[in-house]
Amino acid sequence: MQPQVPLICEILGIFLVNLCTPNDERVTNKYKRNTDKFEVDYQWNYINYTWPTPEDYTNAVDTGKYIPENNVMAGIKIYKDYLYIALPKIRTGAPITLAVIPRNSKYKENALLRPFPNWRMHTGSNCATLQNVQSMEIDSRGVMWVLDGNRFNNFTQCPPKLVLLDLKNRGKVVHIYEFSNEICSKDGGFLNDLVIDESDGGFAYITENSAHDPGIIIYSRANNKAWKIRDKSMFAEMEASNFSVDGLVNDKLVPVDGIALSPIPNRKNEDRLVYYCALSGYHLYAISNRILKNEQFCKTGAWRRFIKAVGIKQGQSDGLAMDHEGNLYYGLLNMYGVGKWNIYEPFNNSKIIDQNNSTIIWPDSFSFDGQGFLYVLSNGIHKYFNPDYDLKSDNGTKFRVMKIYTGTKSYLLT
Ligand SMILES: *[C@@H]1O[C@H](CO)[C@@H](O)[C@H](O)[C@H]1NC(C)=O
Ligand SMILES: *[C@@H]1O[C@H](CO)[C@@H](O)[C@H](O)[C@H]1NC(C)=O
Ligand SMILES: *[C@@H]1O[C@H](CO)[C@@H](O)[C@H](O)[C@H]1NC(C)=O
Ligand SMILES: *[C@@H]1O[C@H](CO)[C@@H](O)[C@H](O)[C@H]1NC(C)=O
Ligand SMILES: *[C@@H]1O[C@H](CO)[C@@H](O)[C@H](O)[C@H]1NC(C)=O
Ligand SMILES: *[C@@H]1O[C@H](CO)[C@@H](O)[C@H](O)[C@H]1NC(C)=O
Ligand SMILES: *[C@@H]1O[C@H](CO)[C@@H](O)[C@H](O)[C@H]1NC(C)=O
Repeated sequence: MQPQVPLICEILGIFLVNLCTPNDERVTNKYKRNTDKFEVDYQWNYINYTWPTPEDYTNAVDTGKYIPENNVMAGIKIYKDYLYIALPKIRTGAPITLAVIPRNSKYKENALLRPFPNWRMHTGSNCATLQNVQSMEIDSRGVMWVLDGNRFNNFTQCPPKLVLLDLKNRGKVVHIYEFSNEICSKDGGFLNDLVIDESDGGFAYITENSAHDPGIIIYSRANNKAWKIRDKSMFAEMEASNFSVDGLVNDKLVPVDGIALSPIPNRKNEDRLVYYCALSGYHLYAISNRILKNEQFCKTGAWRRFIKAVGIKQGQSDGLAMDHEGNLYYGLLNMYGVGKWNIYEPFNNSKIIDQNNSTIIWPDSFSFDGQGFLYVLSNGIHKYFNPDYDLKSDNGTKFRVMKIYTGTKSYLLT
């Protein structure tokens, strides 16, 4: 039965939240809104998997194919009842690069990760299997766009690729696109993060985070074609290059990394803005999707005039996340925090929504869960990139998946 809603609520509902929210919903929302801080949902001291047999596990440990402390998670995305996790191979002994856990599991600590879509996609030597995944995004139809393009080390010689997996069909591979060496080198290239624009047959905007050729890659699904733009706004900033997180200095010059897309416009043909920032940087930039989608224009160089410098963040960020109301969430690595800015307001209205130096240690990847929560993964990933850092004797909590109630959903939805 539909509850009775006064007419005034249909017109002014968003201004009269208390009057217009049905009673039972008000109670749950009050409970949900109780959290104005991130709360830990899952955590891990080390990553382990649902091995097919005990022998497989023992064998992997004995041969060094699996070295527990070297496994690291980087990208998270939630779809329906599952949390998907990307596991880049940064050090040796990391056998799996994409995995999943059920969200209703009662195991919130050291939950075993199930390789996704299956073991075969991780053990094959053939380049159609997953090699080294940094992150992924899930479109509104339940297709996961996987960036298998972490090639900063030489663990694989396979070309970087985008792999489309149908989550409604057990992760069946529906498409693979291999990037040419000019767009992303199989020797040193680094597809880092992406957003999906579902207009005009579908586009992915991807940050290429390699030291030698950083930029933004545009992939058109309709034309099955990719191109790349490069600009100094995508380079690291010297003055933001040296910062310390959890006792370890990060002084690498890390270029463009975080990327976000403004909400779906009310009128279909309006532009959307693609936001991006270098990891070693404070500046946030944006450019219209209309510019990026125009391959010929991207070749001219004239496109650079359309880059907007939108603000100076309080600190360095890895991942970004946009909700359907235009709130941009960004990690603040050096401040153990998360910032929030509504893109329809001046940037100086941005706020730090939470800070915690014992839990928000390198907020890396974000995901909305479709039920009003925003999730963030903190992973201390700079420790994995630093070969001198001794992971083995660091036995504390390494990874936390935390949530906060925002009442909003992903930029992919209306
Ligand atoms: C890893 O998981 C397997 C089950 O897949 C289990 O048998 C093994 O004991 C676990 N290892 C550790 C160190 O937890
Ligand atoms: C891979 O890189 C490591 C060091 O980064 C080097 O020792 C090794 O020889 C390289 N292997 C190949 C096959 O290039
Ligand atoms: C980098 O920062 C650390 C502290 O975070 C400081 O000790 C060090 O001197 C800095 N190095 C440079 C080159 O600025
Ligand atoms: C934000 O910037 C606007 C103009 O750019 C200025 O008028 C306003 O005072 C600033 N607000 C704060 C809180 O600094
Ligand atoms: C940091 O998080 C921990 C665990 O959730 C909590 O106990 C602690 O109070 C938080 N610290 C601050 C300053 O909020
Ligand atoms: C962590 O944050 C608390 C306040 O929230 C502060 O008192 C403490 O000095 C900080 N510790 C470190 C190591 O930065
Ligand atoms: C980590 O190791 C230290 C010393 O080796 C020990 O005191 C501590 O209890 C360990 N912590 C955990 C969570 O195992």
